Amino acid sequence: MARVLYYVFLTFFLPLLIAAQQTNNSVAVGASLIATDNIVPWLSPAGDFAFGFQRINGQNLFVLSVWYDKIPDKTIIWYPDTNPMVPRGSKVELTNERGLVLSDPQGREVWTSGNFSDLAYGFMNDTGNFVLVGNGSRKIWESFSFMGDTILPTQVMARGGVINSRKSETNFTRGRFQLRLLQDGNLVLNARAIPSYYAYKSYYSSNTSDAEQLIFDTSGYMYLMRRNDRRLDLTPRGALPLGDYYHRATIGFDGVFTQYYHPKTLTGNTSWEVIWFEPENICKTGDVEGSGACGFNNVCGLVNSTPTCECQQGFSLLDPSDPNGDCKPDFTPSCSEDEENNGEEMFDFIEFTDIDWPSSDYMHMIPISEQECQKSCLEDCLCAVAVYGSNECWKKKIPLSNGRKDNSVNKKVFLKFRKSDSPSGSVPPFLGNKKDKRSLIILGSVLVSTSMFVNVILIVAVCVGFFLIHKATKNIHLSRNTIDTNVPHYTYQELVEVTSDFKDELGKGAFGIVYKGVIGTNIVAVKKLDRAFQDADKEFKTEINAIARTHHKNLVQLLGYCDDGEQRLLIYEYMSNGTLSDFLFGDMRPTWKQRSYIGVGIAKGLSYLHEGCTTQVIHCDIKPQNILLDEYYNAKIADFGLAKLLMMSASATSTGIRGTKGYIAPEWFRNTPITVKVDVYSFGVLLLEIISCRKSLLFESGNEDRAILTDWAWDCYKEGRIDAFVENDLEALDDYKNLTTFLMVGLWCVQENPLLRPTMRMVTQSLEGVIEVIEPPCPFPSSARYS
Ligand SMILES: *[C@@H]1O[C@H](CO)[C@@H](O)[C@H](O)[C@H]1NC(C)=O
Ligand SMILES: *[C@@H]1O[C@H](CO)[C@@H](O)[C@H](O)[C@H]1NC(C)=O
Repeated sequence: MARVLYYVFLTFFLPLLIAAQQTNNSVAVGASLIATDNIVPWLSPAGDFAFGFQRINGQNLFVLSVWYDKIPDKTIIWYPDTNPMVPRGSKVELTNERGLVLSDPQGREVWTSGNFSDLAYGFMNDTGNFVLVGNGSRKIWESFSFMGDTILPTQVMARGGVINSRKSETNFTRGRFQLRLLQDGNLVLNARAIPSYYAYKSYYSSNTSDAEQLIFDTSGYMYLMRRNDRRLDLTPRGALPLGDYYHRATIGFDGVFTQYYHPKTLTGNTSWEVIWFEPENICKTGDVEGSGACGFNNVCGLVNSTPTCECQQGFSLLDPSDPNGDCKPDFTPSCSEDEENNGEEMFDFIEFTDIDWPSSDYMHMIPISEQECQKSCLEDCLCAVAVYGSNECWKKKIPLSNGRKDNSVNKKVFLKFRKSDSPSGSVPPFLGNKKDKRSLIILGSVLVSTSMFVNVILIVAVCVGFFLIHKATKNIHLSRNTIDTNVPHYTYQELVEVTSDFKDELGKGAFGIVYKGVIGTNIVAVKKLDRAFQDADKEFKTEINAIARTHHKNLVQLLGYCDDGEQRLLIYEYMSNGTLSDFLFGDMRPTWKQRSYIGVGIAKGLSYLHEGCTTQVIHCDIKPQNILLDEYYNAKIADFGLAKLLMMSASATSTGIRGTKGYIAPEWFRNTPITVKVDVYSFGVLLLEIISCRKSLLFESGNEDRAILTDWAWDCYKEGRIDAFVENDLEALDDYKNLTTFLMVGLWCVQENPLLRPTMRMVTQSLEGVIEVIEPPCPFPSSARYS
């Protein structure tokens, strides 16, 4: 009861109290703000900027900050440069002697703006500058002098000035990258060696030896002021849009320095647009020292001109919440074991052709054959990777640095892995013995030049090869202990308040009913799980933690949970555009562009569930009702991780078949093991639905449920009547090559034989056009379809 009262107090009365303290937009000495959800910040006179606490998305932490208050995403432009994240209940107070003082709920001081003697008031200016004014209207402190990661118009950086990136989008701890105006007159971008301030070689330089100041003028132009009144424009002349815009320049957590603009008047879907950025391709920068744009062993690639880091097969993220961080190898070369003499017995390679690690070499051999290059690495206990190209061989050591995606290098990268990590006994019949595996991988590169028949066989073999390697790497993960993360926990009573007593039902899912709720200023979706989950006691927390650790653009993010008595609820981000099912089969046929974008998004999300997270997740119920669309029509997979939880807690009576008619892979009905390939099957059906805008079950007659759409897809494909399959969708037919690729990938995914189905990673790469798809065989060779 006391807690509820406290909550009511915080929600309703405190903001009033605080508002009362703030008159004429000046903040009186003695005023304070508490870090909770419904706090009224200190606003600038026109209301453009706010000073206060912002809750960090998906966490129970707050950051003391200045943000744009009029735009929906409330972009943060300032935060204290040290320890900026504090727990709920922390407080910032404007004091006479010590200026702004930030303290934690226990009253311990976390940060202060400094010691002053004669503070009169504080002021959130419409420029975005929070100012402390002394008696006699003297400015004694301003946030502009202690920048976070952002510079605003009217700000000037003198020689010696620096702004630091944050660690990640949601972690405001100081990150690796810096923008500095050096004493020698050069403006540079560089990474630094945490925890020191040692700066690695810069990856951008203005090449000016006489710049005195970096100026961001009121109209939004950024330039360097040089000696004799000369200027070097950073914002290209004429690049600024005409009209009323916000401007900012931020050094991103990925190291890219970007100037953005955003319309001040909000019409429809407005967002930050890019004016210019440096460097052009950060993936291709980097020196011998440091890790490069991404962490050690990580690989950087540009996706829609945004640098994106991805651990490769054989590696997984050291800190799963930090995709730009280091990757740990699933096996580390070591010379301590007695294995020097039988390297070829113990190790094998995974081959890549589109990746380069230009540094980390310790040996360079020339001339040498590919076979000798491989042999040399296999027999060398120090060697982690061998790179081969035109009679040259480089041996590399862990950690690998400066990894980048690069299709132009014409080299083969062989990544070593330990054979003993792969499972024994599950070798499919036509694979012979394990030794064949390496040759299979190498055969993969021959694919393009051989006949169709051979190709089919090869694809099968390569699929199986991937499958085995995949299993090999996953097995290690499963045995690892789970780390505890802090998913915010809510009591049932709190969720009653959040959802106004479960008033607004959003929909019924497979695992429970979903209600709309509001936490702070965010709309959320609260899922009340079925009774079946009540039994899952111990597993519940473990699984929830596993689910909370998965962060991906194409997965619905878990924001919190409740396990109060018998009540089990999950809190997810709210998806304003509803389910894919409604979108696809509604009155308006979505455009092909939207559909194909959604298809690729789902593939990426699934690929991440299968290979990207610490514990592999099989979804088991992929269907359009379980795909949600956010405001920008990004597809996000919902309900992952729940099937497993239900299976762990299921009573003995449960038959164990999971999924939905029309999307269930055939192996559920056979005595074969259930693998990630069941999701690939369901995805295939879904992809065919996305292509054709038709439901997989066109009719359900009596006791025969047939996924008719797959038959229809195969018939259309075989007869060359793709136009019939998309019902003469001219936009899709205009994009014939991609359309055909999508259809072929769909048909590969719904192969009755799970081993023939590609991995989601291969699916993603094919849909994005990175790898070529070959003709799929008939998906249902064994069943008599037209009996
Ligand atoms: C607010 O910004 C304006 C424009 O730069 C400036 O003239 C004014 O002095 C500032 N107010 C305070 C209190 O610093
Ligand atoms: C933010 O990053 C720092 C540095 O890696 C880490 O120590 C800290 O735990 C992170 N904080 C959160 C809330 O994730």
